[in-house]
Amino acid sequence: MLLNRKDFFRVSALGLSMLSACRTRRDFHAGDEWSRLRQDFDLSPDYTHLACLLMASHPRPVREAIEEFRRELDKNPALFLEDNNQSLLMDVRHAAADYLGAQPEEIALTDSTTMGLGIVYNGVKIDRGDEILTTEHDYYATLEAVRFKSIRTGARVRRIRLYEDVQSVCEEEILTNLRKAIRPETKLIAMTWVHSSTGLKIPAAGIGQIVTEVNAGRPEKRRLMLAVDGVHALGVEDFTVGDLNCDFFMAGTHKWLFGPRGTGVVWGNPRSHSEIIATIPTFTSRQGWGGWMTPGGFHSFEHRWAAADAFRYHQGIGKTKVRDRIRALNSQLKEGLRAMPHVRLYTPMDPQLSAGIVCFSVNGLSPAEVVARLREKRVIASETPYEPSLARMTPGIINSPEDVEKGQEAVRGLTT
Ligand SMILES: Cc1ncc(COP(=O)(O)O)c(C=O)c1O
Repeated sequence: MLLNRKDFFRVSALGLSMLSACRTRRDFHAGDEWSRLRQDFDLSPDYTHLACLLMASHPRPVREAIEEFRRELDKNPALFLEDNNQSLLMDVRHAAADYLGAQPEEIALTDSTTMGLGIVYNGVKIDRGDEILTTEHDYYATLEAVRFKSIRTGARVRRIRLYEDVQSVCEEEILTNLRKAIRPETKLIAMTWVHSSTGLKIPAAGIGQIVTEVNAGRPEKRRLMLAVDGVHALGVEDFTVGDLNCDFFMAGTHKWLFGPRGTGVVWGNPRSHSEIIATIPTFTSRQGWGGWMTPGGFHSFEHRWAAADAFRYHQGIGKTKVRDRIRALNSQLKEGLRAMPHVRLYTPMDPQLSAGIVCFSVNGLSPAEVVARLREKRVIASETPYEPSLARMTPGIINSPEDVEKGQEAVRGLTT
């Protein structure tokens, strides 16, 4: 049954939550539950989609919410906004907080991971004499955001390697290298949880533990902070922000979580709310820290409001179920690839050290050639925008074991 959101406008965030919960509740019984989920998506059946880490296809509840909001805005933009914007934004922040195990006041809304990285690294109180510690494995936007910070403030940025060889890395190697690299002047660690360069998932909780140990020996004003780009963990891993013991968590909701394109969140640990100054003036200053940190201006509101439906869609499936499915598909893919003599697998087999991203190379072909040849076989893969670049496939919950087999079959065929 298609519920009409219209009757629920002008009501509290609770009323909106109930409507959305009805819309996005899934009955996950045994059987072909995953193929039923796939029917929520308009993904072209002519292709095998193994690159959805880049940008989500909207599932049915998210598409419907966007359409309803768009209709209302088109009918009466000023009035609809005036009557509903504050409560709809709160509804998104409630849904995000429920999903992340946080409080709505701790959630800021952004347009992307990149915007979250920008506002956190620009706004955090770091000065000349302080050091930002980051890694060679991090994403371009993190490295650029901390470089800009360094230019503005004179703070030093140091990049380290967390491991020698991704094919033999273990958690202890990463934690030992990080522990050794922290100096008295290190004020902030800027890291990515799941690396889009190799598929490696670093032990984020262990890193949070190191931060706690370091801070036990520091005065409050020299407290070490940890900021995590969690975009390839959100909608993949089964976690709450409390598990990470970080200070800031930034993620787009338009990748694995299937949120509206152009949406994201920043979570701020209350212990560090006063450690950051907003970069962009807000329209939601009365909505706590997260309100202050939410960039103002008029947005593509139909997308922003519908992010609540994406969080509830995932909650309706269940975080553990999502994680287990993604693990199973990725293990299947890795098993197949590593058995191929012409393929070199880079992503660790161990699910403790990997998530939904599988990176590999094929003898005699560049990653761009691999991706192009796979596309001829209607398999959508991607190449990593890093040096060295690798070919990449990213099975998620929109995929089936048959999709993984098709991906493997296409790579197998690259010998000829
Ligand atoms: C680790 C990582 N962070 C951030 C991004 C950018 O995310 P967004 O499009 O949400 O800014 C990407 C890739 O798109 C990424 O791989």
